[in-house]
Amino acid sequence: MSSVIKQSDPSPIIACTISRDVQNFDLLIEDMEAAMGEAWGDLGFAEALAFFNQPEAESLEFVAVAIDEADEDDLVMLGEIIGLANKKGVKVILIAEDVTPAALHQLLRQGADEFVPYPLPEGELQAAIERLQTAPAPVHLAPALTHAALATPTAGDGVIFAVQGLAGGTGATTLAVNLAWELANIEKANPPRVCLLDFSLQFGSVSTYLDLPRRDVVFEMWSDTEALDDDIFRQALVAFEEKLWVLTAPSDVLPLDMISSEDVNKVLALARKHFDYVVIDMPGSLVQWTEAVLHSAQVYFTTLELDMRSAQNALRIKRALQSEDLPVDKLRYCLNRSPKFTDLNGKSRVKRMAESLEIRIEILLPDGGRAVCQSSDHGLPLASSTAKNPLRREIAKLASSLHALGKSDAEAA
Ligand SMILES: Nc1ncnc2c1ncn2[C@@H]1O[C@H](COP(=O)(O)OP(=O)(O)OP(=O)(O)O)[C@@H](O)[C@H]1O
Ligand SMILES: [Mg+2]
Repeated sequence: MSSVIKQSDPSPIIACTISRDVQNFDLLIEDMEAAMGEAWGDLGFAEALAFFNQPEAESLEFVAVAIDEADEDDLVMLGEIIGLANKKGVKVILIAEDVTPAALHQLLRQGADEFVPYPLPEGELQAAIERLQTAPAPVHLAPALTHAALATPTAGDGVIFAVQGLAGGTGATTLAVNLAWELANIEKANPPRVCLLDFSLQFGSVSTYLDLPRRDVVFEMWSDTEALDDDIFRQALVAFEEKLWVLTAPSDVLPLDMISSEDVNKVLALARKHFDYVVIDMPGSLVQWTEAVLHSAQVYFTTLELDMRSAQNALRIKRALQSEDLPVDKLRYCLNRSPKFTDLNGKSRVKRMAESLEIRIEILLPDGGRAVCQSSDHGLPLASSTAKNPLRREIAKLASSLHALGKSDAEAA
């Protein structure tokens, strides 16, 4: 353990324990030493508050706040420490012994990222540190989404989430497929009904990613929407593992302008009638019926990456929607292959990109490595093939927060 006060210390302090007296948590000392070597220090509560404002704190990546029942009287101060750490971009692992669930809950809500009980189970601290390092910052949904945005998911009133890539290959289909699958599995007892619509009519790859057949009736459905009714719509859908209903792209290439906003609206009305959640994989380009989807969708996710192509297209789409007076506030920017939590340079590039585009990048999707591509090649969602993949975890979190918002809105209504 290093003293954080020592100025001459050559190795920067990456982590700190914060506790009334670290000697009460000797297993924590052992585990910190094993995980961090010399690159950590320890602080008391009052010292911690002062320390965050010092230059030495800039190298901090996380703090482990260790508390026991005697600290429950100091919840306000603990909340301040966690809040300050959050503000400085320092992650917080909460380590607690004999603390009431109410106190734990409060501290987690105040922004602690991970919780590990004390005495520390074997390997748990290390695992929590690894999770912090692979997971990007948590998803923060814009206020618009927390309130009126989500319609109550009842029959006829399904919630629509659209996904469009701002540049090719930025992960729109991966997000759409996995978000739909996570939603379909979000509650065991009473799972919502979910359908996934592949509106990438020409080169839609949802059927490939889930290894589903493309039905001829899909082409017929789009070519004659006059005749479209519940029955035809149902016939056009294929089930993935009896849980997710999918409208694949047609087997033949369809011109994107062959369908109109009315056609799209008709399909969407049927989808909302039969499903609680409707996830749409949109084509990469803006088409005349994009507007129809934008109007119907509660949230319109756009995927981008940290490169010039995405940046320029983000600017274009924003301007295009603004010039047509379209609801640009429904867009949620998802940065795919986002830099890791430890990549400070990458993080500042994200910040600069958001600032220069005047957008909020609210959802950070980590790189999931080759497992992601392999999963789609095998026709499986990430949850079935690589459940612990960091990308899967982040999409699962997104699905939970969307579902929780939908439920709280339903209860408020
Ligand atoms: N976060 C990620 N980590 C690792 N691989 C990823 C990630 N996101 C996407 N991929 C891989 O990148 C490739 C492109 O992803 P995907 O097909 O989802 O993008 P898209 O935006 O739908 O592309 P298109 O423009 O072709 O429609 C796929 O092979 C996918 O497995
Ligand atoms: Mg795609």
